[in-house]
Amino acid sequence: MNASVDSADAGALKEIPGERGLPIIGNTLDLLKDPVAFGKRMRAKYGDIYRTRTFLRDNVTMLGPDANEFFLMDKAKNFSSEQGWSPYIGKLFPRGLMLLDFDEHKAHRHIMAAAFKTGPMKGYLERLNDDMPARIKAWGDTGHFEFYPAIKELSLDMATTVFLGLEPGPESQKVNDALTDMVAASVAIIRKPLPGTMIARGIRGRKFMVDFLGKLIPERRDSKQTDIFTQLVQASDEDGNRFTDQEVIDHMIFLWMAAHDTITSSVTTLVYELGRHSDWQEKLRAEISDLGLNDDRLPYEKMKDLVLTDYAFKEALRINPPVPAMPREAVRDVEFDGYRIPKGTIVGISTVGTHRDADIWKDPLDFDPMRFSPEGGVKERHRYAWIPFGGGAHMCLGLHFAYMQAKVIMAHLLPHYDIVLPEGYSTKFQIMPLIKPVDGLPVTLKAIK
Ligand code: HEM
Repeated sequence: MNASVDSADAGALKEIPGERGLPIIGNTLDLLKDPVAFGKRMRAKYGDIYRTRTFLRDNVTMLGPDANEFFLMDKAKNFSSEQGWSPYIGKLFPRGLMLLDFDEHKAHRHIMAAAFKTGPMKGYLERLNDDMPARIKAWGDTGHFEFYPAIKELSLDMATTVFLGLEPGPESQKVNDALTDMVAASVAIIRKPLPGTMIARGIRGRKFMVDFLGKLIPERRDSKQTDIFTQLVQASDEDGNRFTDQEVIDHMIFLWMAAHDTITSSVTTLVYELGRHSDWQEKLRAEISDLGLNDDRLPYEKMKDLVLTDYAFKEALRINPPVPAMPREAVRDVEFDGYRIPKGTIVGISTVGTHRDADIWKDPLDFDPMRFSPEGGVKERHRYAWIPFGGGAHMCLGLHFAYMQAKVIMAHLLPHYDIVLPEGYSTKFQIMPLIKPVDGLPVTLKAIK
């Protein structure tokens, strides 16, 4: 596949309004400094489709729900997800589902879907329900703490229990360290694995995981364990197609990465907004209490009854979508909105730009979960105005898992604690590479008597 635009194509690219920014670095610093402000500036100057130069490549951004639909549905198979994402995560998470394209991707996704059916999901939910009380109690005992690192650690521990089916101990600690190094490396600025760099540590972490998971596979083939890893080892489609050992390993490592920072980010935003809106905290608390749960354990069948919690989580994902933008590479010349995007161009859409577009969302920075209710116009809105989980062939495979985890956390937390933020507090969220509060989000959990 052609990885860059040749000179003839570069001519065609210039037809698209835009700029190349500074020599060599192009617009990269502007983008990294404040992606939302940068996007707004470019849109005001050039319109809904514009060209910039970031990370040493010319690229095209397409804005608006119609563009999102064209890009994500990709009926003509114009766009490669693998080529779009590889520069960022290809070294550490090669052959993950998002790094496969077209027919091969479809076949792998079909097998992997077995691990996300109702039966296995119920098993994951039980583990979450088992693990949550001790977690929430530890947070409550601490009282005042930074929420972002705390939920990140929780998410990491879930990786060993729910994802890998390991009990906490020295072994799980090594797994945590390896996975942490890999995720840190995926956003490292220095991309060459020189000694001592994050990327070198990440590659070492990957080697450890490949070896570790490879040794576990034989014992999981006939195991009755209910973790995601065991499900993947045993997953097959209706024709009996299964993953090879290497494929299980690659998918497992990718899955974990896809789940980790996204859940961390979205639950942090939800807690932040609930801290700022005590009326919504009360509404969710009342809704959870109405379920009459036993020891706070949330049964699978009752998840759908948490309607307001669902709206609140969706609204958190709207204001701060954990994946702020999605990249692809055009595998052929693409016509859109009167422009020709040449083959080999990196093309992107902006989740955060769409979610904070005042033409689509009234007062976009206001937290108003009722936007997702029928009265709030959810049915009338463009289907691609809200895309935290993407859409089309690569739509997030773990989205129900994400809702489940957010709801379980709320079901165990809100009945016992008030989320209180410091007086007059507001935080700033860093957007790239994933959305997170710059100060870790200080919170106090006040026990409800
Ligand atoms: C709030 C949490 C999450 C958010 C916001 C999120 C977001 C996304 C987005 C935007 C994509 C598509 C990217 C693209 O098309 O370029 C994606 C793909 C994916 N996500 Fe998630 N994700 C979340 C949680 C999870 C969890 C918990 C899992 C697994 C348990 C998961 C597994 C995946 C997988 C496997 C893909 C690749 C799908 C494919 O290429 O077919 N995600 N996610």
